[in-house]
Amino acid sequence: MRQKIVAGNWKMNKNYEDGLTLAKDVIEGLTVDHCTVVLGTPFIHLKAVSEIVKNVENVYSSAQNCSSEPEGAYTGEVSAEMIKSSGADYIIIGHSEWRAYFNEADEVLAKKIDLTLQNNLIPILCCGETLEERETEQHFTTVKRQINNALFHLSEDQLKNIVIAYEPVWAIGTGKTATPEQAQEMHQHIRSLISDRFGDGIADDLSILYGGSCKPSNATELFSQKDLDGGLIGGASLNASDFIEIIANLKDY
Ligand code: PGA
Repeated sequence: MRQKIVAGNWKMNKNYEDGLTLAKDVIEGLTVDHCTVVLGTPFIHLKAVSEIVKNVENVYSSAQNCSSEPEGAYTGEVSAEMIKSSGADYIIIGHSEWRAYFNEADEVLAKKIDLTLQNNLIPILCCGETLEERETEQHFTTVKRQINNALFHLSEDQLKNIVIAYEPVWAIGTGKTATPEQAQEMHQHIRSLISDRFGDGIADDLSILYGGSCKPSNATELFSQKDLDGGLIGGASLNASDFIEIIANLKDY
């Protein structure tokens, strides 16, 4: 069964106290039995947020990145194993901000995916084209390359533990959202890539989230598309009531 998921990506926002308040406010306002909710926090908050969500049904915590190395002399890095030991369940991998600002290449992402899975964590792999790539009609090719390089070395069993987030770079934090039709055709494209490589059953069960200026006012329309299984929410996840409203919008789909 395909899982519905709404994941928040706090990025580099909220100090420790404010982050814990946000997590508690989300939990208090939530009544979720229709989907999985994930809180993607900075490392600093991860252990405490994991404790907060530990006994709350359907709610999990996530890191926003991990090292591509298992351990060792990598000053400032945080390993997948450390993340696991904090009580988290997910890691966001390959966010476009990492790809753009830290030149994160697909080969590095494949290593991060492997470490995430080895540590029994679920990767949320981000993919998506830049504005230039969309304008020159390379968006399908770009996403195909990203999916291929990060995931196609995995086994069918491993693929069952993957979540994909399609986030067109031009829609992230810009207020510009992909139209429901643009999102749907890319989600369908991603599902068919997975189907070609891993088979229909695995593709049907794969959760594909949309991210990029998703907010309460546009979530319903986006979520109504048949290949959208939820959202990866940046800005709007920093406000508990907006985030809760987005989650509620997924209820009917
Ligand atoms: P946004 O960010 O919702 O603020 O556009 C989404 C993301 O980067 O994951």
